[in-house]
Formats: sequence, C-alpha cells, structure tokens
Amino acid sequence: FSLRQHNTFGIDAVAHAYLPVTSVQTLHAFRRASDLSGLPRLVLGGGSNLVLTQDFAGLVLHMCNRGLEIVGDDADATYVRAAAGESWHGLVQWTLAQGLGGLENLSLIPGSVGAAPIQNIGAYGIELQDRFHALTAIDIDTGEILTLDRAACAFGYRDSVFKHDLRDRAVVLDVTLALPKRWQPNLRYADVAQELDARGLQAPTARDVSDAVIAIRTRKLPDPALIGNAGSFFKNPIVPAAQRDALLAQHPQLVSYLQPDQNFKLAAGWLIDQCGWKGKTLGAAGIYEKQALVLVNRGDATGQDIVRLAQAVQADVMARFGVALEPEPIFI
Ligand code: EPU
Repeated sequence: FSLRQHNTFGIDAVAHAYLPVTSVQTLHAFRRASDLSGLPRLVLGGGSNLVLTQDFAGLVLHMCNRGLEIVGDDADATYVRAAAGESWHGLVQWTLAQGLGGLENLSLIPGSVGAAPIQNIGAYGIELQDRFHALTAIDIDTGEILTLDRAACAFGYRDSVFKHDLRDRAVVLDVTLALPKRWQPNLRYADVAQELDARGLQAPTARDVSDAVIAIRTRKLPDPALIGNAGSFFKNPIVPAAQRDALLAQHPQLVSYLQPDQNFKLAAGWLIDQCGWKGKTLGAAGIYEKQALVLVNRGDATGQDIVRLAQAVQADVMARFGVALEPEPIFI
C-alpha cells in the first residue's frame, strides 16, 4: 500500500498493510484479528508530522472517524468534541461558523484532530493545551478506553505523554476542547497584530484573526498540496540564559524569547538562515526559500534525502552556534 498520498512530505514509501479506522469497532476487530494484531503499527492522521525513512513492514491504522459536536457549556467555556479523523483546520473553521472563538490562532495548521495533542500543536501565541479539556483514547494493547485530562497528557512545547509513556499504545479517538465564553483576541505575536492593523481592524473578531493568520501562514509556509513539507522541521531550541547572553554578545541580531522558567527559546529558523541554508538543495530535499525552518521535497525526495539534509543543517548550526537542533516530526 503506497503511503505517498498519506504523508505531506509526499515520500513514496510502502506499508505492508493498511486499515482505515472509521470507528472504535474497527480497532476492537483489529485486536481480535491475530494475523494482524502482532504486526508493528503506525497510527496515521493527516501525515503532516511524519518522515518515512523506509518502507513500513507493518500495519498502518489510518484514523478516519468523523464528527464535530458541541457537547455542553458552563460559565467559563463551551465544550466542543471532535473525532480524531477530522481535519484540524476544518474543526477551527467549524467552531468559527458556530460563533465560537478560541482556536483562530491555530488556523491552517495541517493535519488531523487526533494528531493535535500528540505534539501539542501551537502557533501565534496559543498551544493546543490552552484550549484542551480532555480526550478519549484506546489502549491498543489491552482494549481499555482511556479518558485523559490536561494533566494526564503532560503537555510541553511540541510534546506530550503520547511521545513518551503512551507512545505506540494509545490511539486517540476524539478530543474535547474548552472554548472561552469571555473571548479576547490573542495578539501577542507582532505578526498577527501588524496584519490586523494593515487591514484597519482595531477591534478584530475571531474570524478576522483567523483570516489574518491564514494570510500570514500562506505567505511564509509552503502549501503541502503543492510542495511536500512537514511544517517546522526542528523545534526552537531552549537554552540557559548564560548561553543565550554569550550568543547575543557574538551575534547581536540573535532572535530569542524569554521563557517562564528564565531559559530562552531561540529561533531555529534564524540560526539556519545565518548558516546560509535558506533556499539551498541537497539531493532531492531542500530548505524553503521563505522560511529556513521548513524542509521541502523538491521532487522525488526519499526519507533518506530528508534525513541527510537535516543532519547537514544540524551539523552546521552546532559548529557555528554550539546549539543542538532537535527534529519535530516523528521518524519511521
Ligand atoms: N527567521 C529568520 N529566517 C528564517 C526564518 C525565521 O530570520 O528563515 C526569524 C524570523 O524573522 C523571526 C523568527 O526567526 O524573527 C521566528 O520565525 P517565525 O515567526 O516564522 O516562527 P518560527 O519560530 O520559525 C514557530 C513555530 C511555527 C509557528 C510559528 C508562529 C516551532 C518549531 N515553530 O515558528 O509552528 O507557526 O512559530 O507561531 O515552534 C510547526 O510547528 O510546524 C509550525 C509551523
């Protein structure tokens, strides 16, 4: 089964077997099928955070369940539940059409609802964890249905329990979000504030913020339908204040952001850009012309082409700045 249409890098890898999962019953049936249940598994959503480095000698479980629903409210929030197989951006647009704000800064992020908590997606000053209420998942080893609240998900920067203790075990079925009753636009990111200003919107609605974010992302980030990519390829590295101060003394243009724990997050895109990689090509993989943090497939890139380019970039950033870059996508 070709996975080319199922990963946004557009890498042409093959899986031994493929199962579209339209409901939890499919997963129970899979667990009873002894010829299948022993195979290595890959749970797939939109495939937008995935590097297929080789063919996959196992079973792909493709989450295809659907459903968007307002499930309740209280004084603080309206609760919305979305099935794992829904598109994330589709969910954001649906909430806006219901008159519910809160997800607009996360507009146009590729991928599925079920994948969103795995890496705690974030953009323009909001992370999934800020709007997260709970999720249900199935423990694929025991068949048990799990309910996880925010604390149980152990969210961090592009991180969660699903990348650690529950990796390869929990399959997310649906996610419930809490959308604030007292909505305020989040304009902490200068990019967003400037875009709204340029549009003459002094008191923007959630729809206006969404439109602004869509415009910014469209300018900066390649559309995976046209150019294969997985968004930011590296996390923005977090370094101690002393290291950031030393770097800043040598590189006055360094882009860094103070964290609540007094460490600094560095803009990996800036570091890579400074190393001269923007717009460059190695094999069939390249660095996007408008955002150095994005690796792109220039044609028939294999997963190995992507890995080689990523390693070359990591080596250069280490040599020049002494900073280790950690990839964001999951490698298969
Ligand atoms: N920069 C450069 N050169 C570049 C790219 C960036 O100098 O080639 C500088 C920019 O000028 C800016 C800074 O680096 O001062 C940060 O760039 P940008 O605002 O584009 O954001 P980012 O840190 O590169 C992060 C997220 C994105 C998210 C944006 C907006 C990570 C790894 N990436 O990117 O998330 O959309 O902020 O909030 O945290 C993703 O995770 O896939 C993703 C796209």
